[in-house]
Amino acid sequence: MDDSAWWQRGAIYQIYPRSFFDSNGDGIGDLDGIRRKLGHLVELGVDAAWISPFFPSPMADFGYDVADYCGVDPLFGTLADFDALIAEAHRLGLRIILDFVPNHTSDQHPWFLESRQGRESAKRDWYIWRDPAPDGGPPNNWMSNFGGSAWAFDAASGQYYYHAFLREQPDLNWRNPAVQDAMMEALRFWLERGVDGFRVDVIWHLVKDALFRDNPPNPGYGPGQPDINRFQQIRSTDQPEVFDIIARMRATLAAYGDRVLIGEIYLPVERLVAYYGERLEGVHLPFNFQLIAASWHARGLDEMIDEYERAIPEGGWPNWVLGNHDQKRIAGRLGAAQARVAAMLLLTLRGTPTIYYGDELGLPNVPVPPELAQDPWEKNEPGLGVGRDPARAPMRWNDSPRAGFTTGTPWLPIGPQPELNVATEAADPRSMLALHRRLLALRRAHPALAVGGYERIEAEGDLLAYRRREGGEVLTVVLNLSAREESLDLPAPAGGWRCLVSTGLDREGPEPAGPLRLRPDEGVVLAEG
Ligand code: NOJ
Repeated sequence: MDDSAWWQRGAIYQIYPRSFFDSNGDGIGDLDGIRRKLGHLVELGVDAAWISPFFPSPMADFGYDVADYCGVDPLFGTLADFDALIAEAHRLGLRIILDFVPNHTSDQHPWFLESRQGRESAKRDWYIWRDPAPDGGPPNNWMSNFGGSAWAFDAASGQYYYHAFLREQPDLNWRNPAVQDAMMEALRFWLERGVDGFRVDVIWHLVKDALFRDNPPNPGYGPGQPDINRFQQIRSTDQPEVFDIIARMRATLAAYGDRVLIGEIYLPVERLVAYYGERLEGVHLPFNFQLIAASWHARGLDEMIDEYERAIPEGGWPNWVLGNHDQKRIAGRLGAAQARVAAMLLLTLRGTPTIYYGDELGLPNVPVPPELAQDPWEKNEPGLGVGRDPARAPMRWNDSPRAGFTTGTPWLPIGPQPELNVATEAADPRSMLALHRRLLALRRAHPALAVGGYERIEAEGDLLAYRRREGGEVLTVVLNLSAREESLDLPAPAGGWRCLVSTGLDREGPEPAGPLRLRPDEGVVLAEG
């Protein structure tokens, strides 16, 4: 049909392993749990699972503090469990994408333990050590993403080490070729085991200013904001030398064929697209988080989509994300009705969609009382609303008190609205789950949606409209972003409009002549004739 890659045609599903399915009753999800629930991904109609970290870790940041890049934490199982998981996924036609965390290790990683032995340690230069400022304080003003200075003092050697996240997550020195070599080995370890790609954690952080100059103040910073907002991160992140490193990762993957490299990047669109690489030797997909940050207004969204489409370099492939384990859930941000419209947007825009586990059920943000808080960021900067626990609540498999997630005590509360679960929604032909299955099936059936071009349709008010076109096929998407009825006077094609799907899952077939009518919070995908 076309020469697109699997990661262009397909949809990605993010699994936060602690919260997906607990196979051994300890209240925490695990690899065997994921393997046993792969059928859900197949029925949903996604093509790949990205699994957040499951490597050996003290869990200071729930696995984003890696103590061994080539293993499985006992909490999540064993390497044999991983091998069984990937074998079963491949048997089912699913790809497996791992979470590679190269910017920092755990402070318990043997490399860091050796590095902190002293200034003469052979691994001293594997991390970022600096002398104190003349006043004895931190070497510069760089802040930790999780609050406070990003520099931790090591009294034994009289130097500071840099940690962009927790002090338990020291940053590696990627300017050191030995670090690069070791990390490429880690990639090859998993590539040899058959993984289909990597999502690379905070990839734009890997290289820092060689002179360690201060970051400039952020004029938008004000009280009530987290510390990381105090300064613009222009010296501590997004340095030009990062692109050679990414190209090296990409080349490492290329030796194994059709694997995908995805970068986690929170940057404005003009900087974001630089990560495709000047000659497309960068990441295949620089994660595009604009739908997370955007305010939900049709006129802003159409501009944003256009601007992104224009910014992508020739040969680059777009992608869209509505949520992840660091952000508030979409149903909580927009409400249940608009979350359905958002799902239709995500799954009909041009580019690879990533679905965050549970969003296909419309899961809410689950309130977590302070005494049950788990997220280290929330604990460091309480009360600012930065906590990530509400979006990390257990997946719901049924409406029992523990949601079929565990037989033990779940590590985070299950939360309200027990009717939002796989079993109940699978039995309801108009559920959020049914909508996701329908839209994903439509993407697979219609190349116009999977790989077709994007054309904006000028609309007014709260309507967002666009065409997707491939070969002779043209599909039209109209979304009502308001809770009022809206209509769009769009010239009908010769044979009239035929509705393929509505967000209500209750409108199909030929449309009446005249303007297109959209009910409150409704979106439709229309075919011609
Ligand atoms: C981004 C990850 O998504 C987040 O969960 C983590 O805390 C930081 N990187 C640090 O690894």
